[in-house]
Amino acid sequence: MQLVKTGAFVRAARAAKVAVAAARFPAPAFVQSRWQSSQAQTQDAPDEQAFPEQSVDVSREVDPAKTAAASSKHGRHSELEKKLQESGPENKIIHDTEGSGAKILGTPYIFDETSNLSGSILSLVGRNLYEHPDHPISITRKLIESCFEEPTFKHFAMNNPVVTVTENFDTLGFPKDHPGRSRTDTYYVNSTHLLRTHTSAHEHSAFTWLNNNPSSKGYTICADVYRRDSIDRSHFPVFHQMEGARVWAPNADRAALIESDCNNMPKTSLQVEDQATDFSTDANPFQPEHEHNHEEVHLVARHLKLSLEQVIDRIFQASQASLPSAARSSFGPMRARWIEAYFPFTSPSFELEVAWSGEWLELLGCGVTQQAILERAGLKNHIGWAWGVGIERFAMLLFGIPDIRLFWSTDPRFLKQFTRGKITKFEPFSKYPACYKDIAFWINATPSASSPIGATTSSTSGVAAAAGGDATKASLTETQPAAFHENDIMEVLRDVAGSLVEDVKLVDEFVHPTSGRKSLCYRINYRSLERTLTNEEVNGLHEEVARRMKGLFGVELR
Ligand code: PHE
Repeated sequence: MQLVKTGAFVRAARAAKVAVAAARFPAPAFVQSRWQSSQAQTQDAPDEQAFPEQSVDVSREVDPAKTAAASSKHGRHSELEKKLQESGPENKIIHDTEGSGAKILGTPYIFDETSNLSGSILSLVGRNLYEHPDHPISITRKLIESCFEEPTFKHFAMNNPVVTVTENFDTLGFPKDHPGRSRTDTYYVNSTHLLRTHTSAHEHSAFTWLNNNPSSKGYTICADVYRRDSIDRSHFPVFHQMEGARVWAPNADRAALIESDCNNMPKTSLQVEDQATDFSTDANPFQPEHEHNHEEVHLVARHLKLSLEQVIDRIFQASQASLPSAARSSFGPMRARWIEAYFPFTSPSFELEVAWSGEWLELLGCGVTQQAILERAGLKNHIGWAWGVGIERFAMLLFGIPDIRLFWSTDPRFLKQFTRGKITKFEPFSKYPACYKDIAFWINATPSASSPIGATTSSTSGVAAAAGGDATKASLTETQPAAFHENDIMEVLRDVAGSLVEDVKLVDEFVHPTSGRKSLCYRINYRSLERTLTNEEVNGLHEEVARRMKGLFGVELR
């Protein structure tokens, strides 16, 4: 299945290949690893919460609360807004004669033609798994944070995933036609707000915070992020990321300072190959327009790479320590390599890969922060680096968790296996039977719904998903079924069957020689992680999927 439509932007956070790799981790063991001691420093919630209030958050030109209020000034949505306000504490979507809207973490939003939220996604907003100390997501977060010590680094968690389009894309230099902006890839609350697709959405606020708190030189951010995507054992529409950044203030001896910071970095046991050291070509360039001192850029890149090698080493050590001693020696040193990458908000940029089960497994993305981003946050003439990682990818490797859906499980058989500060291998409690069902259909030849926002003026194409979480109801503005995009069937499946779908594969595709019409066949694997599904139940779900595909996308079932 084609996953990578948005290049490095998407790839850095993907958990692909991990399920296979995780299966290679040997038997469970119990360990108290050396990073546990740093827990006390980073665990305090009040500090983590301080960031949104303390920072002068100038990127929030459109404040969620203000937007909601502004929409009511038009008068059109006042009733709907009132209904949302009074609708109780849970996240929810409401449709009425005035239009549709959602309440997300207490704030009402009015939908427009860009909205494509679903109820199933909203039900996951606010779980804050990274704040449950005994959850593998939180344990992994703490392990990563322990590599970036306070007070040099400040550790933040960002609970509210609703950000502006400006914060998520514009401020970071994403081109207007970047595929990551597409409604088939991103969950839009409306045309000004979305569910963040990466932690980089908070870079501007975090750098602004650093500018106001110069005793800190860097930060990490932990948050849940959202992407419309295919369904398999290593992809879930919500996952967790961590972002880190470090800056150096202007100083006559800055190069020497950065160099000494590099030299103070502890040695690791990794075997590293660096294929990304040339910044003189267009492939991965210096930032000439800002007159970056080339010697400094090389040093910042070196510091960045050494810092992240620490993270990988610490994770590898923690994972090793969790294995029986006989299994440890067979591993040998961990091999890693740096390769060139592209992100709109860093240059030069890099990705780190590790050798895993005979393949190179991509672990993270990073680079030297675009000077314009630092300057806009008030960090004049500073220089610095930033990185972003997907937590699930690390956690699946560390704990040997084979299916990304497990992180969301509330089953005590899962949750009881983990304890803060400890890496323990997951013991599967049961494997319930899979149930495969095919759905085959002819699709319309109308333009694809994947067109990036702004790239199309059609108000009907792709609107079906804007019916929001309740896909049985199309958007009020919709006059004809939308064209089909692969992520749309994924969304329908999530809405109808939630985490009862293990994976979805395109098993057949052909174009009719005379009519030119295209036929697709998807194979859906329905399997619960927690119980055996009945035939009746699966048939019911599958029929509902077919019904919605027909109603929303005008497909002709075969
Ligand atoms: N935000 C990027 C992603 O989600 C990762 C990244 C963060 C890259 C910071 C560079 C710097 O893929």
